[in-house]
Amino acid sequence: MEVITSVKDMRESIFKLPRSIGLVPTMGDLHQGHQELINCSSTDNVSTIVSIFVNPLQFLPNEDFEEYPRNIDRDLEILKDLNVDLVFIPTIDEFYPPGFSTYIDVEKFSDKLEGKSRPGHFRGVATVVCKLLVLCRPDYAYFGQKDAQQVLLIRQMNRDLNLGGSIVTIPTVRDVDGVAFSSRNKYLSSNERKAARTLYQSLENLQGLKSSTPEELKNAISSALAKEPLIQIDYVNISDPDTLEELNLIEKKCLISIAAYVGKVRLIDNLVLDNTGVKF
Ligand code: PAJ
Repeated sequence: MEVITSVKDMRESIFKLPRSIGLVPTMGDLHQGHQELINCSSTDNVSTIVSIFVNPLQFLPNEDFEEYPRNIDRDLEILKDLNVDLVFIPTIDEFYPPGFSTYIDVEKFSDKLEGKSRPGHFRGVATVVCKLLVLCRPDYAYFGQKDAQQVLLIRQMNRDLNLGGSIVTIPTVRDVDGVAFSSRNKYLSSNERKAARTLYQSLENLQGLKSSTPEELKNAISSALAKEPLIQIDYVNISDPDTLEELNLIEKKCLISIAAYVGKVRLIDNLVLDNTGVKF
């Protein structure tokens, strides 16, 4: 497994890697969600690249950039065991050298849901992912449905800028208690961790609720979450899974998105249901 930290070395190594190439962008502190993306890439491709970069551009000034878990030695052990071919770990100066001033703004999705709560976040995500796609030129790049809006935005950017590869989405990987794996779960106390289960349970409980309106689904989630004193809702949203337009009526499918604080930790989760309450 080759570990590369510079853009120059990366450019040279990419051309030597046998195709097809799969790319899995991450911010490290790898968990089973990341590992599933890597396994999918290894199954689909001859070569797999994993990037590890805690991207300062996607953190707001009041967010957890400094505290974000970093665990490179452990990550490298995991990646070795997964037979990854190349790991790219740029420094901040390498990826955003002094004077850096080009940013990607995917207008259609940037101001909704996470974009509304975290203004500027998606500009940072789109910019770093664009740089990674341009540098690594993967045939396939892998992203998790856990960050449903992120995937839509990256698909849109990939199309708009003719970046060339295909974007693959992998279902959300969950722990045995239903909580979606996330690097931020580390911040949860044991009571908060128990409370965090309510997020997924409130989504799961919507299954089978036939002919519900978005309003009824939202109310069902809000009242389930309200029973948990450690949880404070940021938003509950029912939208079209392809456009993220908020729905007044569920005709085919809907994306149900939750963002909530569990204690001080902000978590997101989502589920796609059809109009008969069946999970996609
Ligand atoms: P990070 O949070 O490290 O996640 C890297 C990838 O793993 C993303 O595609 C994310 O959706 C996916 N992922 C995270 N938790 C998952 C889970 N429980 N199940 C399935 N997939 C999961 O997302 C980012 O980093 C960054 O925004 C990044 C795309 C790397 C750009 O900086």
